[in-house]
Amino acid sequence: MQPPASLLNMVNSPAKDTVKTSIQAVYAPVSAALEQVKQRLLAVQPPESVLLHDSLHHALSGEGKLVRPVLTMLMGGATASVNSDENKKESGISDALIETAVVSEMIHIATLLHDDVLDDSDLRRGRPTVKKLWGNTISILSGDYLLAKASLKLSEIGIIRLVAIYSHVLADLCDGEVEQIRGSFALDDIIRDPQAAWASYYRKSLCKTSSLFSAGCEAAGILNGCDEAKIQTLRAFGENYGTAFQLIDDLLDYTGDAQTMGKPVLDDLRNGLLNAPILGALTSTSLTETVKEQLQNHIRQVFDNREGDGNKQEASILAILDLLKEHGCLDETARLAEEKISAACASIDWLPASDYKQALLLLAKNTILRRS
Ligand code: FPP
Ligand code: MG
Repeated sequence: MQPPASLLNMVNSPAKDTVKTSIQAVYAPVSAALEQVKQRLLAVQPPESVLLHDSLHHALSGEGKLVRPVLTMLMGGATASVNSDENKKESGISDALIETAVVSEMIHIATLLHDDVLDDSDLRRGRPTVKKLWGNTISILSGDYLLAKASLKLSEIGIIRLVAIYSHVLADLCDGEVEQIRGSFALDDIIRDPQAAWASYYRKSLCKTSSLFSAGCEAAGILNGCDEAKIQTLRAFGENYGTAFQLIDDLLDYTGDAQTMGKPVLDDLRNGLLNAPILGALTSTSLTETVKEQLQNHIRQVFDNREGDGNKQEASILAILDLLKEHGCLDETARLAEEKISAACASIDWLPASDYKQALLLLAKNTILRRS
């Protein structure tokens, strides 16, 4: 399947109005519930007497996109009328589902608090990280605090399967992060076994990125009384959407700008991450060996100058960016994302028409328009 000619242009510079209208249409069906999520998130911060008050206030008040809660609640709305339990045929966005949506964002913020320590990042959501302001210890403990409070919320919902789902998510997030660390700087592994490198990439993405999305979709199906086969299709939406989200995230590291993203760009290679565009280039069957060797040499320069010459490292990163652009490797990543988006949309084809379903499809298709 060839990507539409303008696909990469859309990732690079989608018309601002198109993006704004699309995003508004995605959020509109759940706007009231989303306000609840925001309030409940802020209410998680402990009283001022607790030492973590300030760091948690900072973390919880960052202007995130709230994609995980939005997806969870849209799925709730979309499955409202398909359950077998007459008692649950209300809006589909029950209080328990809103709490679950809050849990998903709390876990997400906790992973970012830990991730910024692992990645030594100073910028997140356009502001200094907790790590930068209060140091590693407070960042880790703030994340731990959120995880504890998220577990408490789940236990209060009182559905043991939800506790199990989110416990698996926590394990997957750690697993995905470790898989990523294992693959970092491992240029020779990719060259030796391209297939294994892609398998590792997709496994890492499912664990690290998709897990929270698919859990929210599954939770919505459970809370709305869907049968098991249907719940699995909802999960599949989350898995494919999450993988597309990660692919575009990788792409935005090359094509995005730091201000819009609220975090540094061109940073993956500096951190040793051989992300999707690089993986695509090194394992491509259409790139010549000469081009691949050029890429490998530049990548080695980036890695070798990690502690040393910043200018040399920068020059190599820019040379890599040029090669990726010139040989269509960024387009190829966008095409892979498109495939996952199509798979996500196909998996919920059976859902009855509703504003929620419409918004879910738009959310998936908007992945390609993401600028942050
Ligand atoms: C951001 O990735 C990080 C994640 C999505 C997950 C990180 C997971 C851990 C740190 C494991 C610990 C898990 C728990 C349960 C707290 P990124 O670095 O690719 O993205 P970024 O550019 O936004 O930093
Ligand atoms: Mg990071």
